[in-house]
Amino acid sequence: MSLGIRIGIVVILFAVLGSGFAWLQGGAPGAVRATRWESARQCQECHQDVYEEWRQSHHAIAFTNPEVRRPDMSDDFRKEECMDCHLPRPLAHTGFGKRTLPRRTHFDEGVSCITCHLAADGGILGRNDRPDVPCKPRASAEFLAVDACASCHNQHWTTDQWRASHYPQKGEDCAHCHMPHVERRRADLSTRIGRGHLWPGAHDKNMLAKAGKFTVTRQDAGVTLELENIGAGHNFPTEERHRAVDMMLRFLRADGSATDWQLVHRCRQPYRDEPGENTQLPAGQKVAFTVPIPADAVRAEARLWYRLTPFCDDQDPRSTLLEERTIELR
Ligand code: HEC
Ligand code: HEC
Ligand code: HEC
Ligand code: HEC
Ligand code: HEC
Repeated sequence: MSLGIRIGIVVILFAVLGSGFAWLQGGAPGAVRATRWESARQCQECHQDVYEEWRQSHHAIAFTNPEVRRPDMSDDFRKEECMDCHLPRPLAHTGFGKRTLPRRTHFDEGVSCITCHLAADGGILGRNDRPDVPCKPRASAEFLAVDACASCHNQHWTTDQWRASHYPQKGEDCAHCHMPHVERRRADLSTRIGRGHLWPGAHDKNMLAKAGKFTVTRQDAGVTLELENIGAGHNFPTEERHRAVDMMLRFLRADGSATDWQLVHRCRQPYRDEPGENTQLPAGQKVAFTVPIPADAVRAEARLWYRLTPFCDDQDPRSTLLEERTIELR
């Protein structure tokens, strides 16, 4: 066989294989080939605003987040089981409500548009049927249901806590608080109502400040600190066992000196190997503690802290001061 003929055979082989693949991916020859949705960047082209919000969210950094990659955490994902939810395949592949499986592509996209919006047949899921627009979204009850979030957000019972609260009866689901309505602008500059894709949570001070109502009052011989969960649709704090909410108190004397800050109460779910019980504050519930006033105290100062980890002090950037109260005792 001459070299020319051999090259010819190889070229024909590739052509046949190539059209075979194209047929497998796009349907029979002659059919209009549907877009194969596999990256958030494809959506960015038309949904720039949604894309930018998602980029700032913790969903987008799920696989790149240094907090998750720490040696005592996933150890740069050497603990492969951590990839299940931090670099997941589309929900529709494993089934809405079921725990997701890991993928090996698009490492910088963590939990992405594709994870939530892709349909099992390769289409796009949304609230409305829109055959008139380029991505042809279809209405899907499964996609909109709380179970979709539960696929990843029930490992530490956040979804169960929500189910046990009064929020389901009120019709306030996860998206009600974490994906509020926002105004979006179409290409022709008309507006429509969309849903925020920032998912504010434990890293957003405004969101954290909505969760608890902190009250400090003087009783006869004591100062009472009370905390009520008025704004979180689940326990406060929730999810990760390392989150903590601390109620702190100190007394000041006439000469300006002060007692040390004392931890009056910590709301937290301990790790499995730690002693103690779950003191997270369920939705709608409250706790109150009274501390006796020392004889020489002239003033009391109380603080409510949120900590991303319980193993950090007030100066640590992982601590957020939510409330501060002073009451005069003289
Ligand atoms: C070529 C442009 C284009 C691309 C690419 C595109 N979309 Fe769309 N999409 C649109 C337009 C236009 C609308 C309609 C917006 C409106 O209501 O005016 C829309 C609407 C939607 C809706 C709303 C459906 C509803 O319930 O009303 C969803 C969800 C959606 N797109 C998801 C996606 C996702 C996810 C991707 C990427 C995988 C994507 N789109 C890629 C143009 C696009
Ligand atoms: C079943 C799904 C799932 C698996 C598996 C999983 N995670 Fe997560 N992870 C989540 C969810 C959901 C959040 C967001 C809730 C939160 O922040 O508490 C999260 C958040 C985190 C955070 C907090 C990030 C921050 O910026 O504060 C860390 C750290 C973390 N995961 C580490 C791990 C490690 C380590 C593993 C493996 C041992 C792991 N995760 C496995 C679902 C999962
Ligand atoms: C495929 C898994 C997955 C699904 C589905 C999912 N999440 Fe998440 N979510 C995560 C992971 C993982 C993180 C944390 C990423 C990180 O910080 O590294 C997270 C973070 C969050 C946070 C931010 C927590 C923080 O402390 O900043 C909120 C809020 C949140 N998710 C809400 C939702 C809601 C609401 C839904 C349903 C519409 C949902 N998530 C669906 C995996 C998922
Ligand atoms: C009534 C409003 C409301 C509803 C409903 C609600 N949340 Fe939250 N969520 C909050 C507030 C406020 C915070 C901040 C305080 C906290 O962490 O508890 C928060 C925090 C979170 C966090 C951050 C936890 C962490 O440690 O990083 C996640 C994740 C989350 N919510 C997921 C969900 C999921 C999933 C649902 C539905 C099952 C849901 N939320 C329902 C208000 C709500
Ligand atoms: C954690 C799951 C999740 C991720 C990740 C996600 N979405 Fe969504 N998206 C939803 C949910 C839930 C809705 C709300 C549907 C409703 O209630 O109307 C929605 C609504 C939308 C809508 C219609 C409302 C609006 O604001 O315009 C568009 C368009 C959209 N998503 C595009 C995207 C794009 C593009 C990305 C990636 C950049 C993305 N989504 C990432 C879950 C997700």
